This record gives sequence, structure tokens and C-alpha cells, in this order.
Amino acid sequence: MSILLQIEDMSVSFATPRGNLKAVRGVTIDLEAGESLGVVGESGSGKTVLSRATMGLLPGSAIRTGTITYKGQVISDLPANEVRDLWGTGMAMIFQDPMTALNPVRRIGSQVTESLTVRLGMSKKDAKLKAIELLKRVRIPDPEAMLRKFPYQLSGGMRQRIMIAIAVSCNPELLFADEPTTALDVTVQAQVLELLTELRKEFNTAMILVTHDLGVVAGHTDKIAVMYAGDVVEYAPTRQLFNNMKMPYTEALLKSIPRLETPTGSRLPVIEGRLPDPTKDEPGCPFASRCPYVQDKCRAEKPPLTDGGNKHFYRCWFPIGGAK
Ligand SMILES: Nc1ncnc2c1ncn2[C@@H]1O[C@H](COP(=O)(O)OP(=O)(O)OP(=O)(O)O)[C@@H](O)[C@H]1O
Ligand SMILES: [Mg+2]
Repeated sequence: MSILLQIEDMSVSFATPRGNLKAVRGVTIDLEAGESLGVVGESGSGKTVLSRATMGLLPGSAIRTGTITYKGQVISDLPANEVRDLWGTGMAMIFQDPMTALNPVRRIGSQVTESLTVRLGMSKKDAKLKAIELLKRVRIPDPEAMLRKFPYQLSGGMRQRIMIAIAVSCNPELLFADEPTTALDVTVQAQVLELLTELRKEFNTAMILVTHDLGVVAGHTDKIAVMYAGDVVEYAPTRQLFNNMKMPYTEALLKSIPRLETPTGSRLPVIEGRLPDPTKDEPGCPFASRCPYVQDKCRAEKPPLTDGGNKHFYRCWFPIGGAK
């Protein structure tokens, strides 16, 4: 396999009235062609900022440092418009709420065919045929009728299938999916993720899947980066992470996975306590005040990212099961 995307020591901060807000603090991750990375963490941990920073889609108030390399070319120094050209059809995105991503006043047909005519230069007739094929691939019944509908006429799950069809239409090498299923109920979530994984494998598409739910990434990623307060605190191949979890924070996240019987939207039990203030730099481990295993050293000194072998990295003085 070859390295598709490399992010080295990336930090992102925002100038805010309350001071400099550090949203991402020196993150290093990479992605091979066809590989799938899950980025997991509580709300506010920096997942969206990390992925938007990688795509070059940050607001003007953001300051980004570090290096991003895409297919061997350093793209972090390029202006945003050049980055977008460079991604070309190679990168696609799926967002949490397809209602805001789809244009409400345009029919599904024109939205699915748009990327095919604009980005791939297909004729309208060919694009329509391809659109029908794509809708079949995402298992939409009666695709011809679907092309004539407006987004408001569809269920959340159907809208997300349309978004997936649009995202894979140009056969991208890299797919960013930011909370693609959180707005859906649990059964539909599972179907949409299955579909995404199936298409990804078929087209050998790499994916960065952002979610706050460790359960969601379990079956759909090759490796996982757990984020806490802007840091990657645990980074490991998926199986390795679940079999040999090192971080108390990851363990707490796992315990907070909602069960099937919990109603949609309620997430109990949650991890007690709160994320530290991102505008302050307190000494010690940022998770110390919430950690069930905290010791004096944790309050005094921030743990470095430790290489535990087996491609497993973690940031903890007293990892679960001991070091290595
Ligand atoms: N445009 C912005 N200006 C200032 N601060 C921002 C901006 N965007 C994000 N932040 C801050 O950066 C931090 C990380 O936010 P981010 O959206 O990446 O979290 P997240 O992990 O994606 O959370 P969620 O699960 O809720 O989507 C938060 O403290 C957030 O308030
Ligand atoms: Mg987010």
C-alpha cells in the first residue's frame, strides 16, 4: 500500500475574544490508499476542525501550522483555491445533515448529475444514465422517480443515500465523512454505514470517518484516532485498540456508547466532568480531573505520545494493563 495522505504535527488555533483557542494540538496521522481511519472523541475535542483543516476548509480566523502531504506533494503551503483544484475529483465529503448539504429548491436529479457534468465533463444524457446507476447502487428503489423529487420529500436515510451517491460519483480516492449518520435512527445508521463500507471497498476509496461514537467506527475502520481536547490521545489499528485499550479516556468513551434500547439522541451514561478550557494551557494531563485512575504525576505533567509497539500510540502515564 502507498501513503495517500500524511498529516504531520498539525495545530489549529482561533483568535477569540477570550484569547487564543487551541482546537488541534500537534496531530500526526497518515492514511494509506483504500484505508479507513475513524476519528473519535467527545463534542468539542477537535474532530471537525482537524478534518476541515486537512481539506483546507477553515474560516479565515483560523491559524494552521504543520505539514499536509497528499500523494507525495506538500499541499499545506498552497493557497486554498489551488488545494481545491489539486484535490479535484480525488476528494469528496459527506456531512452530518444532508438537508443543509442538498439544495432544497433543486430536484435530486440535477444535484446528482451536476458533479458528473461539471467535474467529469459528461454529457447531460450520460450523466442521467450514470445517476440512475448510482441511485441503484445506493439501493434507492425506483431511481427514475427519485430524480424528479425534491430533498424535503425524502426521509433522512434516503437523503444520506443521495449524499453518498454524489460523494462516490466521481470515484474519489479519499472520502471525508463527518458524523454521516448521527441524525439518523440506529437501524438506518447501520444500513448507511454498511453501504458506505461496501462502496468504499469496491472502489478502493480511503475514508476519514468522524464520529463521537466508538461503536460506529468499530466495524467500519482499519484504524482509529481518539481525540481529546485537541490531542490525539490514542492511535491504533482498530482491532488492536479494542483488544488492548490503553487510555482511560477511550475506555470511558466505550462505556458511553448508547445501547440499542436507548432512545435516539439520549446518550447515557456520559463521561462525568467537562473538557478543559481550550483557551487555557493547564499543566498536567487534560483528562486528569475526570480520570478514574488519576495519580499525582498526572496533575503535574502532561504525558507525551508513547509508542507502545504494534502501531499503537497513547498519551498516558498509567495506561490500562500497564505500559507495552
Ligand atoms: N470557527 C471557530 N472559531 C472559534 N472556535 C472554534 C471554531 N470552530 C471550532 N472551534 C472550537 O474548536 C474546538 C473543536 O471544535 P470541533 O468542532 O472540531 O469539535 P468536534 O470534535 O467536531 O465536536 P462535535 O462532536 O460537537 O462536532 C471547540 O472548542 C470549538 O468551540
Ligand atoms: Mg464536529
